[in-house]
Amino acid sequence: MIKIFNLNDVISIKDFQKKDIEFILKETENLEKVARSEETSEELAGKILGMMFFEPSTRTKLSFETAMKRLGGDCVGFAGSAASSVSKGETLADTSKMFESYSDAIVIRHNLEGTAKFITDVVDVPVINAGDGAGQHPTQTLLDLYTIKRNFDKIKGLNVALIGDLKYGRTVHSLAQALGMFDAKMSFVSPNELKMPKEILHDLEKCNVKFYETNKVKDIIDEVDVLYVTRIQKERFPDEEEYTKIKGAYLINKDLIKGKDLIVMHPLPRIDEIANDVDNTKYNKYFEQAFYGVPVRMAILKNIIRNKL
Ligand code: CP
Repeated sequence: MIKIFNLNDVISIKDFQKKDIEFILKETENLEKVARSEETSEELAGKILGMMFFEPSTRTKLSFETAMKRLGGDCVGFAGSAASSVSKGETLADTSKMFESYSDAIVIRHNLEGTAKFITDVVDVPVINAGDGAGQHPTQTLLDLYTIKRNFDKIKGLNVALIGDLKYGRTVHSLAQALGMFDAKMSFVSPNELKMPKEILHDLEKCNVKFYETNKVKDIIDEVDVLYVTRIQKERFPDEEEYTKIKGAYLINKDLIKGKDLIVMHPLPRIDEIANDVDNTKYNKYFEQAFYGVPVRMAILKNIIRNKL
């Protein structure tokens, strides 16, 4: 069988070439009807997805489960280490070996950067990173790109502003790297304490990707096509006092964006950075974006599990 999608694991968006991303976006489009339950599929019948969620999740966990079930497969796993034998002291390596023997692919979310990569050395089944600390969230990036493509029919040349916690936000780390591959123009809007990490800026510079940094939304609001807003991530601050000083730094509300030609995205959950008055406007794309997690993850699961057959 000729492999079109060559990745064995999904750990970082940097493992993808542009053609891999384009392939997944095309597959996603083909799977939307199955995701919406307008068509059925048994492509992964008999296959089991192992879910190791050491950190809380609503969208990523539920959309992976829905994706697997819509393709005729099933899921096993735990949410929170308290519900597994990790709480008795079992190592991550041993836990991963157990998942390998019970399932055909593993999805892992963990608070430590590098954890998903680590278990690829322990197991032979495909591993998908569902978020590793402040590291990467590659499947979120694919659904973010799909949302942008679905709304503009292109990514190249668009002006995308990433706003909020750019230091600890794994979604913006993966997304900035992917937008660079698609020749989008980027603005990074954050408090000085939460700027995009230097390693990511260096990666972009090496690829001649242009970006603009500011701490004021007003500097970019008239120029952007996409406002990608993120939560200030309390759980990643070593010092809660530092979080308290910065929280609520940005508020996107209806008055701010009225009359502008843009869309508002957010990986969610939101806390107080997008006002509820945006929800019932044409600008709101964040709930649609969360739905696209299902067909995007169907496309990933279908191809990554098939590659192991
Ligand atoms: N976007 C995202 O990762 O949401 P969850 O934390 O709910 O999975």
